Amino acid sequence: MTRHSDKLGLLTVEEKVSLLGGSDLWHTQAIERLGIPSIMLSDGPHGMRVQYAEGDHLGAEGSEPATCFPPAVALASSWNVELVARTAAALADEARASGVDVLLGPGINMKRTPLCGRNFEYYSEDPVLTGMLAAAFVGGVQSKGVGTALKHFAANNQETERMSISVRADERTLREIYLAAFETVVVEAKPWTVMCSYNRINGRFASEDPWLLTQVLRDDWGFDGVVVSDWGAVNRRDLAVSAGLELEMPSSSGAGTAVILAAIADGTLTMEEVDRAAVRMLELIDRVGDADHLPVVIDYNAQHAIAYEAALEGAVLLKNDGGLLPMIDGDPGRVAIIGEFARTPRYQGAGSSQVNSIRVDAALDSLRARLGGTREVTFSPGYEIDRDDVDPVLVADAVAAADVAEHVLLFLGLPPRYESESFDRAHMSLPPSQIALIDAVVAVNPRVVVVLSNGGVVQLEPWSHRVPAILEGWLLGEAGGAAISSLLLGDVSPSGRLAETIPLRYEHNPTVGNFPGELGVVTYGERMLVGYRWYDTHRLDVSYPFGHGLSYTTFDYGSLVVTSTAEDVRVDVTITNSGSVAGSEVVQLYVADIAASVLRPEQELKAFAKVHLQPGESCAVRLTLTRRAFAFWHPAASRWVVEGGTFELRLGSSSRDIRLRSRIERVGDAIHVPLTIDSPAGDWWDHPVVGHRVRERITGRYGRLLADPRESPLFSPIPLSRMIRFPGFTMTEAEATELLATLT
Ligand code: BGC
Repeated sequence: MTRHSDKLGLLTVEEKVSLLGGSDLWHTQAIERLGIPSIMLSDGPHGMRVQYAEGDHLGAEGSEPATCFPPAVALASSWNVELVARTAAALADEARASGVDVLLGPGINMKRTPLCGRNFEYYSEDPVLTGMLAAAFVGGVQSKGVGTALKHFAANNQETERMSISVRADERTLREIYLAAFETVVVEAKPWTVMCSYNRINGRFASEDPWLLTQVLRDDWGFDGVVVSDWGAVNRRDLAVSAGLELEMPSSSGAGTAVILAAIADGTLTMEEVDRAAVRMLELIDRVGDADHLPVVIDYNAQHAIAYEAALEGAVLLKNDGGLLPMIDGDPGRVAIIGEFARTPRYQGAGSSQVNSIRVDAALDSLRARLGGTREVTFSPGYEIDRDDVDPVLVADAVAAADVAEHVLLFLGLPPRYESESFDRAHMSLPPSQIALIDAVVAVNPRVVVVLSNGGVVQLEPWSHRVPAILEGWLLGEAGGAAISSLLLGDVSPSGRLAETIPLRYEHNPTVGNFPGELGVVTYGERMLVGYRWYDTHRLDVSYPFGHGLSYTTFDYGSLVVTSTAEDVRVDVTITNSGSVAGSEVVQLYVADIAASVLRPEQELKAFAKVHLQPGESCAVRLTLTRRAFAFWHPAASRWVVEGGTFELRLGSSSRDIRLRSRIERVGDAIHVPLTIDSPAGDWWDHPVVGHRVRERITGRYGRLLADPRESPLFSPIPLSRMIRFPGFTMTEAEATELLATLT
């Protein structure tokens, strides 16, 4: 069968250009004359949002019913690579059944600010965790013959002015934090497409940045798929083609085509560039064609069961003083369920990822079904989701119920109007109506378990110390209510871990002063110190640290065995479930560079593993670190570089619960920063190739000063170009230029 990618020579210029734009909101253009089909792209990352007729890209119009799996915030809190892959594969089954060829996800932007309205759609504040989980997601979807769109490339970390804001960030910050997860996924999982973001980076729109879309993505990482624009992200269509953006979505009603054809006509865009883009589109269409297209029948109960399993692992038990949880069914006494979110669950976010769920489990129904036979269960809404002001009648009812109950389950969270795609949150707190409710309820009954539903992290102060137990339920997808009930009742031990820090207060977060930017620019002044990298480096207390999450059991760490070779470092440890119920531990390995000549965060997550153990059971865990785990991005050398010296390996149950430490020495990479006339005189003096000639030529006083270990720290930093002009200096600029020429 002829490959579509072999048909380039048969296409007219207009046909080639037509391949580079959508035909409507969700489809590419077919070329019927040559049997080249249209393909369909559709949201989204945690459930299908398929619109066959009229639609929109922000979830305002309806869509076909589908399973709503846990959004990324919860899926990532599972720290479970296998579970993420399985959930993604289930999602891909629904994509296939709906005729979707490319699923628009996963979204893997870093959670730079806690207020980003879209944090619920993103994984973490950490690029290693994000990269590993998102690679599993892409692998899971693509294993079913459905493509993914890794988004939003890149540095789309806020919604405020998302279509125009310019991110000001240095290359090291971009490479180490904002590009690193994309790199892992592109290299390891080979997504069929990458979606470029709306924003600008250092003044240039991502959609027309050749450094981003070609040099980094294709030349450095080997990406071989198609770059698709975010919906409406194209600014200058001709510049976008040159930069490496193949597909403009949705249809621009002919505008993009006209610009491309005009640019070809006036010679600013070459046919070579257009051909390159058209071939990549044809290759994508071939990939779609190669996939299995047998009809898929979806068993929505089985899908719901996977959504439930993922939800179970996505909730994080933050606090459980006095072992208040689990509430065993056989416990005596009344249970007061308080909070509208128990009855009307908030389980997903708004915008392009919003799913028209097949079915939704409310925690209230699940708990009633489980407890109804044995315990008296009452429900009081406590607040109205859409109102911030306190309703005294609702509070009084809730207090009366709490007063006579053995256990209080208090369901709180963020109303949908607080967070969504398209805007950022105004603050990090719960609504005042809910905070007032906590105070009133705790005053009459201290045995309170707070269950939270929120997409972005919420500030737990000033109320968290007044309640003994908190379950962070994030947005758990359509089966979240049943999962919460199972966790509270102890059917399963909680095993979610924080993929982002909960700071004590908003003002501690690294972006204060640099968010949401001003006059169209947001400066990433904290550089690599995002999330725990900031809180740890600045020794700030936090409410709950990155990686934290309690279980109903406990785990012992055996001794650490570290085996180091030039290529990698292997870390072996035995983990034992030392408690009385089954549970899962997430073993986390952080690396600290003990002495560095450049800024390094206090510690960085480099590997992790999740293990499930029966009571008394042990298992061996091996984590492997490649050289990259010790490296930083050297902008002048333009590559990853290991600076030789001592590194500490920290193995623990969270970033602030380190159980075992070991120090190792690593041999560094030789860094050859290209010499220029302005390089420090000391670099010239010590240069491995021309240094001996320099030492011959710089004689007299300056030769003595540069050679003397006591004096050289004073003189060697002076740029050679300046030293040359000092009286008595013996080397000329012409000689230096001549030496430089020998290096090229
Ligand atoms: C979002 C994308 C989404 C696209 C299509 C945009 O508003 O940023 O994430 O895939 O719409 O719905």
